[in-house]
Amino acid sequence: IIHQNSDEASFFVAKEIAQLIKQRQKVGKKLILGLATGSSPTKMYEYLVKFHKEEGLSFNNVVTFNLDEYYPMQPDSMHSYVRFMNEHLFNHLDIKKENIHIPDGSLSKEEVRSFCEQYEQKIKDLGGLDVQILGIGRTGHIGFNEPGSTLSSKTRMVRLDQVTRLDAASDFFGHENVPTKAITMGVGSIMDAKRIILMAWGEGKSDIIRQAVEGKIKESVPATFLQHHNNCDFILDEASASLL
Ligand code: GLP
Repeated sequence: IIHQNSDEASFFVAKEIAQLIKQRQKVGKKLILGLATGSSPTKMYEYLVKFHKEEGLSFNNVVTFNLDEYYPMQPDSMHSYVRFMNEHLFNHLDIKKENIHIPDGSLSKEEVRSFCEQYEQKIKDLGGLDVQILGIGRTGHIGFNEPGSTLSSKTRMVRLDQVTRLDAASDFFGHENVPTKAITMGVGSIMDAKRIILMAWGEGKSDIIRQAVEGKIKESVPATFLQHHNNCDFILDEASASLL
């Protein structure tokens, strides 16, 4: 779905999420929402906050699971995705603290495996993700599923690609400060979501968007796996869609 600009596109996505939240509220059910970090979803989060403040949209029936977190990473670090999500979204909503889930980058290596299994189990116990929000990295990663990630991969510790670390360098004041690892939901965990919405803006994403949408499905571009999903939309601006 191609919009004129990212603002209009973000509004369109936020409207869909708001609609789903309200539908669930009417029948007294929870909405299980998979969330992403990065610059792509921030405008959409701004709209959700606006709907909460100006139209009274409540998030008290929303349960969230974030895709990924750097490893190692303390939650109170300025670089953590916990901080990112609090600042861009959670601090401004009436969401219940116990309904927020973000991979824990502060665990010891020995603890990570069982944490990842529990993360998957919690999503399953709630009936699976209703919607997963995604951005896309220049390597074709979704979450932090870098090239080589398999279709069946689940939540786990991964090593970050050099391109991804270079792209994050400015956030960390230098490439050498970017963690080499991360905890991420797997391609399989993402594919299990009932609906997937990937957002991408700007010319810099146009080449990877072309590969993801029109290219051959392959592990070297993990986002191509989304072609297998039966309810996945790519929400683009004209620039990111320019090579389609
Ligand atoms: C990071 C995140 C991804 C995100 C990607 C793109 O690597 N872990 O989930 O999709 O960046 O970021 P941006 O939206 O800033 O282009």
